Amino acid sequence: MTRAGAEFESEGGERRRRPGRDLCGIGGLPVDAVCDLLGRARALEDAPHRPEVLRGRTVVCFFGEPSTRTRTSFELAARRLGADVIFFGNDGTTSAAKGESALDAARNLDAMGIDVFVARDRQTGWPQVLCHHLGARVVNAGDGVGEHPTQALADALTILEAFGRSPADGARALAGLRVAICGDIIHGRVAHSNLHLLPRLGAEVVVAGPEGLVDGAELPEGVTLAPSFDDAVVGAHVVMMLRIQRERLARGRDLPDDAAYHARWGLDARRVGLADPHAIVMHPGPMNRGVEIADAVADGPRSRILRQVTHGVAVRMAVLARACDRQGALPEAKR
Ligand code: CP
Repeated sequence: MTRAGAEFESEGGERRRRPGRDLCGIGGLPVDAVCDLLGRARALEDAPHRPEVLRGRTVVCFFGEPSTRTRTSFELAARRLGADVIFFGNDGTTSAAKGESALDAARNLDAMGIDVFVARDRQTGWPQVLCHHLGARVVNAGDGVGEHPTQALADALTILEAFGRSPADGARALAGLRVAICGDIIHGRVAHSNLHLLPRLGAEVVVAGPEGLVDGAELPEGVTLAPSFDDAVVGAHVVMMLRIQRERLARGRDLPDDAAYHARWGLDARRVGLADPHAIVMHPGPMNRGVEIADAVADGPRSRILRQVTHGVAVRMAVLARACDRQGALPEAKR
């Protein structure tokens, strides 16, 4: 394999990777590793500035798609751990404008000695491609219609907090809780990670969505497809709404207009009333207000949407420390 940055190759030409662990998909994390990350994230929320943990390390946010929450929270997380942070985006200022491929750009940055690539891209499977080619560790920040594992971890932390549960309870941490995930399941990478994570923590997970945007045959074992949105929400402890990923829909795909979609698939006060009396409402963002969620619900007392964002920073700190093999330098997991 021809690579710039021969410092990542042993004398025999075999590629060496930096110490640490990649995070491409949530399935790569055993339950005990998930719970350790969540417990350490909880502890970090009490004392979020730990500049000794990643001092001397460099994190690049390598983003080929727009982002508000994920990019900012990864940058904050890396800085709070003392890392140097570089943003590299397809924004017209890079040599992508001269025809350089994203993979060549990544290899060139890698040759400069990056420790962690935090990667977002429209290409499903992009993090795995980077793992194959780079010496740096790779953390998936959302790949096409694949996964968004750190969002799922932030969501799990939000649910644990809301219901007074402990990550120390592992596979039973969310036992007895019914989670309804509603909207565009097929294109929803947040949904894909949550569908693989929440049942492993003991939650009952049910999905609902418009025809063509959810496929009952593709659901992981133990996840059920509700016959209607109302059926999914009845008795739910968590109602997680997803936007339609219009940028990923096949061209010419017919969808109802926003008002019609809201009437059929939008979370409004009536539907919240079908859920458990202590139910919480979640949405990974960005929200399309008045489409999949009503203003009064997004901003109402059940909403934990901004808590998801807050937890995203601590979770990403724990994930970056793990990526650099520095998890042991974080505070002990908090119950
Ligand atoms: N939740 C999420 O991935 O949001 P951004 O696209 O703004 O990062």
